[in-house]
Amino acid sequence: MENSSVALRTKSTYEESHDFFRQVFTDDFHFGLFDSESGSDLAKATTSLTKHVCLGLQVEDKDKVLDLGCGTGKPLLDICELTGARGVGVTLSSPGAQQGQDSAVLRNLGSSVQFVCADFMSEMFKPPGITKLIAIESFHLLSHKKEALRKMVDLVAQSEGSGPQIAVVDFFLGKAFASARDPHVLRAFRDVRAIFGPATLMPSAHVVDEFSRLSRMARTQDLTRVCEPTLQHWISRADVKDGSNESFLRGCRSLKFLLASDFVSYEVIYA
Ligand SMILES: C[S@@+](CC[C@H](N)C(=O)[O-])C[C@H]1O[C@@H](n2cnc3c(N)ncnc32)[C@H](O)[C@@H]1O
Repeated sequence: MENSSVALRTKSTYEESHDFFRQVFTDDFHFGLFDSESGSDLAKATTSLTKHVCLGLQVEDKDKVLDLGCGTGKPLLDICELTGARGVGVTLSSPGAQQGQDSAVLRNLGSSVQFVCADFMSEMFKPPGITKLIAIESFHLLSHKKEALRKMVDLVAQSEGSGPQIAVVDFFLGKAFASARDPHVLRAFRDVRAIFGPATLMPSAHVVDEFSRLSRMARTQDLTRVCEPTLQHWISRADVKDGSNESFLRGCRSLKFLLASDFVSYEVIYA
């Protein structure tokens, strides 16, 4: 499928489901990092994941952070408030970008953080001066991942950043699903829709093996063990009464959580 049609499909999903996602996920549209501090509180867990990314990237006040797939803008605003960095958030969703901009003004960050409704992959989208880039649960939505990584690297390479510059946090299906066309995968996605409602769409899957070389080079940290409570949280939501969500549960159990930073070595991998 072409970049643009994937982006259009994602755009309409996020625009139509904006309010629904806010009900399910609060203002962080990601799975969070459940730990002893968060208990089973989703809001605390999502804040904890954002903080984890911010610390991992060593964001400082001199940085300009690009949030690829910024959702409601909350994670980026939290990072900029915490560190004093400037920020740019990009999302395909117009209500998402609007909410980001409104929240920036409310939080007195209107002059330092901007939100744009655009396709990250578009040639027109080239924000200057980016020193750090985050993509929390948005990488799996991009159709051409090598191109996307190249663009991520190109953007941060243009400025003088220090330390790790790119953090990608996403879910990667483990070996149990050999192919995105595997009927188990398709069944698992259908079940996810059954659990979260018709507005939910899980558009793509990629196996972790596709990324093994990349993640080695990028010094990926495997957070699967750390994320066990996160996995359990989402599994408990499946509410299995009659076994109908079995494939979803199998899917959940095979998820791997990776935190990758410093994708700067990406050029070496695909040169
Ligand atoms: C699961 S949400 C994650 C939101 C946010 N990162 C968070 O953690 O709360 C995925 C986001 O990726 C965005 N997205 C997906 N593909 C995109 C693209 N090609 N360009 C810009 N944003 C994109 C969607 O609009 C949505 O905001």
